[in-house]
Amino acid sequence: MPSPTTEHRVSQRIAAIAESATLAVDARAKALKAAGEPVIGFGAGEPDFPTPAHIVEAAVEACRDPKNHKYTPAGGLPELKEAIVDKTARDSELVVTADQVLVTNGGKHAVYNTFAALLDPGDEVLLPAPYWTTYPEPIALSGGVPVVLPTDETTGFRVTVEQLDAAVTDRTKALMFVSPSNPTGAVYPVEEVEAIGRWAVQRGIWVVTDEIYEHLTYGEHRFSSMPTLVPELQDRCVVLNGVAKTYAMTGWRVGWMLGPTDVIKAATNLQSHATSNVANVSQRAAIAALRGDLQAVKEMRDAFFRRGQTMHKLLTGIKGVTALEPEGAFYAFPNLTAYLDRPIRGRTATTSSELCGILLDEAKVAIVPGEAFESPGYARLSFALGDDDLGEGCRRIADLLGEAS
Ligand SMILES: Cc1ncc(COP(=O)(O)O)c(C=O)c1O
Repeated sequence: MPSPTTEHRVSQRIAAIAESATLAVDARAKALKAAGEPVIGFGAGEPDFPTPAHIVEAAVEACRDPKNHKYTPAGGLPELKEAIVDKTARDSELVVTADQVLVTNGGKHAVYNTFAALLDPGDEVLLPAPYWTTYPEPIALSGGVPVVLPTDETTGFRVTVEQLDAAVTDRTKALMFVSPSNPTGAVYPVEEVEAIGRWAVQRGIWVVTDEIYEHLTYGEHRFSSMPTLVPELQDRCVVLNGVAKTYAMTGWRVGWMLGPTDVIKAATNLQSHATSNVANVSQRAAIAALRGDLQAVKEMRDAFFRRGQTMHKLLTGIKGVTALEPEGAFYAFPNLTAYLDRPIRGRTATTSSELCGILLDEAKVAIVPGEAFESPGYARLSFALGDDDLGEGCRRIADLLGEAS
């Protein structure tokens, strides 16, 4: 019998996975709310809008059709793959074929499949921080090593080619790139996207580029797709995407990865043993989303833009708080260091994590501490929530921080 002290009941590989901090904050806020506390949750990266009606109707119809009650190809319905091919040409001017597409259970699953398909033990992945809290986990689970490259507001939270180049070793396999960014809302200008792509080609490094917020950019900021700008990269590039953020479809769980056929084939084989096909009804809904026009998306983007502006004004109106004006996605990422080491209602936070705890307990406002994104001192607030809650929540934050001595 293994001794209780030496036995690993849960494998060390899995035990090392941290809980998703963003989901944890959201769950805590929802639990407090269910218990009758007047909590306002800024934690979830989730549009507050319902899925547009024509998409829901397509799903209802799909439910009634028995062919959708059965297993279908593990890698996705051929009709959805074609819709993804057409949408990619429409939105990114990138030409791909159906055998370069794998339909996954949300964008998150695409991240997992990608790193599982690309990495051997010891392979290093360049990971600019602040980073989306999920990225390091599938890298580590696949035996890879995340190499974190810090950025801050002085560079608009954008990594430079010089920084990337300085971090390369003979084990560097890939760069994880995301623009518009979760958690910072930063959008890389087209010339920087191209420069990073050209650098990757020169260095023979893969780029995994997450385009899930492609339609959510504000003002003069524009999304640009790296493999379109740098066609030579296409043989070493995987694009991640999904319907969750663009079409308010977080619960439907449809994402995809696009890449060279050998990588897509390998990832499809993996998926065929893990999850098989994504629920057919969700895939049919995704077809309606991608084949439809972008009117509902435009309306949601306009609302996010307005809310982002309001949130930015309210947060930066708090003495000592700085923040980038939102450029894309639906997150504000203020610097809260001015409120560390200062008593608030008899409690003193020394970290942004503790400060977020005080804000939840005392102001009933749930925000995600920067530690979750490897950027202590900051916090992430989603502005994908209703106007009233947004205004009230920001006011509560301002009032509580105003009490700091
Ligand atoms: C940057 C980024 N990529 C991918 C995803 C995955 O989205 P989903 O798994 O809901 O499709 C998210 C969700 O928060 C995200 O913020």
